[in-house]
Amino acid sequence: MANTKKRNVIVGQSGGPTAAINSSLAGVYRTAIERGYNKVYGMLHGIQGLMEGRYVDLSEHIKTGLDEELLKRTPAAYLGSCRYKLPEIHENREVYEKIFEILDELEIDCFIYIGGNDSMDTIKKLSDYGLVFGSDIRFVGCPKTIDNDLALTDHTPGFGSAAKYIGTSVKEVIRDGWSLETEHGQVIIIEIMGRNAGWLTGASILSKGEDCDGPDAIYLPELTFDIDKFLDNVRRLLSKKASVVICVSEGIKTADGKYVSESGETSAYTDAFGHKQLAGTAAFLARRVSEEIGCKTRAIEFSTLQRAAGHMVSRIDILEAYEVGGAAMKAADEGLSGMMVVIVRLSDDPYQATTEVKDVHKIANDERLVPREWITEDGTSVTEEFASYVRPLIQGDVQPIMVNGIPRHLYVPGFQELL
Ligand code: F6P
Repeated sequence: MANTKKRNVIVGQSGGPTAAINSSLAGVYRTAIERGYNKVYGMLHGIQGLMEGRYVDLSEHIKTGLDEELLKRTPAAYLGSCRYKLPEIHENREVYEKIFEILDELEIDCFIYIGGNDSMDTIKKLSDYGLVFGSDIRFVGCPKTIDNDLALTDHTPGFGSAAKYIGTSVKEVIRDGWSLETEHGQVIIIEIMGRNAGWLTGASILSKGEDCDGPDAIYLPELTFDIDKFLDNVRRLLSKKASVVICVSEGIKTADGKYVSESGETSAYTDAFGHKQLAGTAAFLARRVSEEIGCKTRAIEFSTLQRAAGHMVSRIDILEAYEVGGAAMKAADEGLSGMMVVIVRLSDDPYQATTEVKDVHKIANDERLVPREWITEDGTSVTEEFASYVRPLIQGDVQPIMVNGIPRHLYVPGFQELL
């Protein structure tokens, strides 16, 4: 390291928000301060905002211990997020020159990016550029995604809280379904996020317990979805019970490779990473069920609720998110670059885990899917092994700080005007 005196840190949040992402931000901030850095800047809306010169000095916003506690309990990206793909270095050097110019002006030693697989592409490219052009700045990734689809890590912060919300809400929906008798029965279809990975949809199995049978069927995106077989299964289930609850991933695809959501009324929006906006799967399937079977149906999209549910977070998740934030900052402080922090599970019972760092080149742009052996043979549920993997991650609660009966959040004053 060329500089002996510690200068400044910059941290950003990227990709879909979670209920735990700000706990990682708090972990980065606290560790940077404790390790003697001067200023900790926060990019507003990730690298995209930074390129437009938008950032804040976090010490002007996180002034007290209470602010830090509120930050840990605030869902969604406190700093704002982005889905922005950096060009390949050889395609557009100017973009990199501009970013490094801004980082040099801000006297940055460490750049921490909290995000998922697409965001790790940013860490990979910036660290590659820094290495080739002799920069001393260290670029380290801090994992985050409700999708739990990052390679080389046991799981990702954000997943546990979303899984807890899903397990709880599915259970409440199942119970509601028991309440009213409906002629010809009813079918409730719940659509769950996760794109191509079924971790979150599979987490609906957590609703199962002594007092609840759990979902009647679970369809993950890892397996090809067959609408006729699905309808046959619904008929079979309805012949046995009056209220059927089925959880489907937003990313299920038919044999022709088309998302089921594309068959319904869906959005034409595609993000910078080429991801189509997935929505409408449950609505489409519910319509097909009512047309073909003639029973009452209800389509529920958990949508944004599953990642923004700050009132239903997992304590383990919030603590781990804080820890990985700290570990990312520590790694950068100790001179590592082009790395991402991973969580290594040491045991299930009692649950114990630690952190390590891995080469981001082996993580960026990859997707870790649910292994076939954790999906039941008939493809309509997940196994006990799957449930045992997720269960430790949803344990414990963190109560929001309530003001006038509603959770209080930390926010950047004038945030919308800063856009
Ligand atoms: O990035 C994770 C994720 O939550 C995916 O599960 C989901 O497909 C996507 O984000 C939805 O993003 P948006 O709310 O921007 O449509």
